[in-house]
Amino acid sequence: MTHQIIEEDIKTIGESLKQYAPQLSGTTLLLTGGAGFLGKYIVGTLNYLNANVLQKPCKVIILDNFIVGLQDALKDNEHIKVIKHDVSEVYKTEEHIDYILHAASIGSPVFYMKHPIETLDSGTLGTKHMLELAKEKHVKSLLLFSSSEVYGDPDPKFVPTPETYFGNVSCTGPRACYDEAKRVGEAYAVNYHQIHHVPAKILRPFNVFGPGMRLDDRRVVPNLVLAAMKGEKLPVYGGGNRTRTFCYVTDAITGIFQVLFSQYNGEPFNIGNDANELTMENLAKIIVELFENKVELNHIAGPNDAYDKADPERRCPDLKKIKTFVGYEPKVDNIIGLKRFITWAKDQDISNISVQI
Ligand SMILES: NC(=O)c1ccc[n+]([C@@H]2O[C@H](COP(=O)([O-])OP(=O)(O)OC[C@H]3O[C@@H](n4cnc5c(N)ncnc54)[C@H](O)[C@@H]3O)[C@@H](O)[C@H]2O)c1
Repeated sequence: MTHQIIEEDIKTIGESLKQYAPQLSGTTLLLTGGAGFLGKYIVGTLNYLNANVLQKPCKVIILDNFIVGLQDALKDNEHIKVIKHDVSEVYKTEEHIDYILHAASIGSPVFYMKHPIETLDSGTLGTKHMLELAKEKHVKSLLLFSSSEVYGDPDPKFVPTPETYFGNVSCTGPRACYDEAKRVGEAYAVNYHQIHHVPAKILRPFNVFGPGMRLDDRRVVPNLVLAAMKGEKLPVYGGGNRTRTFCYVTDAITGIFQVLFSQYNGEPFNIGNDANELTMENLAKIIVELFENKVELNHIAGPNDAYDKADPERRCPDLKKIKTFVGYEPKVDNIIGLKRFITWAKDQDISNISVQI
């Protein structure tokens, strides 16, 4: 996935993580979902740290079944080993493991609705298997990638949403396979910590975006940018009044490592960018302004109920906990992040992919 923008991002992240070199040097990390959007950035960061910062390189074992991630996105090297494996099956290894980052899941609603049982399995069984492995290997830390979707459609009184909000989630609705699997995964993590002392931390990302996302992934930023690149009307669902906040990937990856290396076992952390809660109409208008061709908006219901009836009205994180506990601070302004994303996107081949309407 090399591109100048991504290389600059990786350098920014790597430099911001230099302080963790002693914890990482000579260790072995197991990363699930390494071929996904965030996974590729994590691998890039670890490659950068190996080449430029660590006294003794770290070893990275990547598990991915490539249900969404693309197999050729990752290459083995002397320190990185890529293994095709479905995390809903037990993974056995003789290797010593110091850290586990469990990111395997299907992040995009369009993809997870095509594979709802697999989504349930990776969030529940996959998480249990990783916690068992963490217990067996006595890891130093395990990070579970949960989601802001554990909050469902939050009561407006709880927006910005703190970690203490219990959520408003349907267990039978179109998003349930993803949301409820993440909630069960969190319950596993907390109880493995309490019963087996597994040093598990939980991360709840709020709409992270950046280069390296699949442009056919159908999440809102890639989908709108793809439409603008193709000169098509930008599809805006649900009247355009629903809100989200957007976090550029360099901020999120830095925060991921800050939480991984912290001591806050059994704790959930929101991660995202709390500035600029945007309506989807405004996001679409901003994207139009960043292109020469000034396409129009197309207000439509959405491709299915996950985007129409069941789409949360508002999403905005309360970031007090992660800011005060681990010193996380999102730095990248939305417009700068979007410009970086668009610069990268313009160099991608979009001839065989279509806009979701
Ligand atoms: N990007 C975001 O804004 C965001 C928001 C909330 C939560 N998250 C969570 O963070 C994690 C990473 O997100 P992402 O954006 O990189 O997602 P992604 O969908 O781009 O990547 C996930 C990766 O996991 C792999 N995978 C899925 N099921 C698997 C299985 N059973 N076994 C092995 N591999 C499997 C996929 O092939 C893919 O490579 C996910 O757990 C996601 O739910 C991300």
